[in-house]
Amino acid sequence: MQPVKDKLIVALDVDTLKKAEHFVDILYPAGIKLFKVGSQLFTACGPEAVRMVAKKGARVFLDLKFHDIPHTVSSATGSATSILVSTFDTAKGSIVESVQDATQAPPVFMMTVHTKGGLEMLKAALRGAIEKAAGLNIPKPLIIGVTSLTSDENNEDTQRTVLQAARMAKDVGLDGVVCAVSEAAMMRKEFGSDFVIVTPGIRIKKVAGDDQQRTATVSQALKAGSDFLVIGRPILTAKDPASVVDEILQEVPR
Ligand code: C5P
Repeated sequence: MQPVKDKLIVALDVDTLKKAEHFVDILYPAGIKLFKVGSQLFTACGPEAVRMVAKKGARVFLDLKFHDIPHTVSSATGSATSILVSTFDTAKGSIVESVQDATQAPPVFMMTVHTKGGLEMLKAALRGAIEKAAGLNIPKPLIIGVTSLTSDENNEDTQRTVLQAARMAKDVGLDGVVCAVSEAAMMRKEFGSDFVIVTPGIRIKKVAGDDQQRTATVSQALKAGSDFLVIGRPILTAKDPASVVDEILQEVPR
């Protein structure tokens, strides 16, 4: 089984590159190897944020939830696939740009598209990433469909809507979905072990006034079969973010 630390993704939901770098510098040595770059940081700093994470040796989950006309989304997933890393080549004495780092891994290992964009858009999203990756001879990043936001309240339709969205994602050939922990077990049962399940809304304890409605603990997420757990504010707003990571890693079975 994959160790828990390889499943934790910390959301770098901050507004400057400096703050993002500060968190990577603290959390990478604590065991976090995956970071989410979402709309806040990407809007502020663009692909530089992705490059910064990659330069530190970590991988990026690019969560921009693409939702547009098929042609635009296909171009966007292609662009995300080909974000470059620059490294210093000591032999040449100069900076070289490549889509892979020294470990042969491209910076973006996973990205999101919104399933509300519909069948044609999802197909185009996948095509954009596949074609770009083939052209660059790199592995295709995982393309993940967002079903329903974890900030949406749970109602009698939630499970049905999430299941419908996930079925479309699976039929199109997407690699998996983002859903709440409360839907993860159903996803696993329905779509099997090859389907990637990403769950945000992870909480260590209850937070007053939380915008997230469908939350769960790390243990609940793992028990439900989640492959990747996205966690933001419980770590970012802690007095000692690295100790929160330690706490999580000690609490859950490895
Ligand atoms: O701070 P918090 O732990 O709530 O952060 C959760 C992260 O997961 C945020 O960056 C948010 O954009 C992301 N996310 C989510 N719900 C989804 C998809 C992504 O909360 N359905």
